[in-house]
Amino acid sequence: MYDFKIASDDKATLYRDLAAALEGLVAGEPDGIANMANAAALIWESVPGLNWAGFYRNVGGELVLGPFQGRAACIRIPFGKGVCGAAAATLQVQRVDDVHAFPGHIACDAASNSELVVPIVRDGVLIAVLDLDSPDKGRFDAEDEAGFVALGAILATAV
Ligand code: SME
Repeated sequence: MYDFKIASDDKATLYRDLAAALEGLVAGEPDGIANMANAAALIWESVPGLNWAGFYRNVGGELVLGPFQGRAACIRIPFGKGVCGAAAATLQVQRVDDVHAFPGHIACDAASNSELVVPIVRDGVLIAVLDLDSPDKGRFDAEDEAGFVALGAILATAV
C-alpha cells in the first residue's frame, strides 16, 4: 500500500501535494486502467466532501464506466447527455453548483448535488472524463477546478 497522508485545509497545498503523489503513482506504468484506479483511490482518500470520484472512458464515442470510488453507477452515458456527456461533447470542464438545475443531469446517486467533470484529452482526442460528485451544493470552486485540471493534465499521458 502507498501511504500518502495528503490533507490540508489550504487547497493550493492540497492540490500541489495531490499532483506530486499522482505523478509518482503513474510514473513508469503504461496501463491506463491501473492508473485510473489508483488516481480514483488517491482522490477519494485525499479530497474531502465527495460521494463519488472516478472515470468514464471514451469507448467508440460513448462514455463507459471506468475505475471509481463510491456507489455503483450508471455504466454507459452518451456524449451530450448529462454533465459527463456535456464535458465529453464539448471537451470543456463542467463545474455545476446544483446538478438538479442542469438540463439532462443523470442522477446515478440521489445524494449528489454538485459535480465537477474534467475531460482528459490527448492529442486532441478525448480519452476519458474525470468525474467528481459531492453531496454539498456548490462544493467545487475555481481552485478545485484548477487543481483537478492539473490532475487531468498528468493523467492525459497516463491513461
Ligand atoms: N451525474 C452524472 C452521471 C455520472 S455519476 O454522477 C457517477 C452526469 O450527469 O453526467
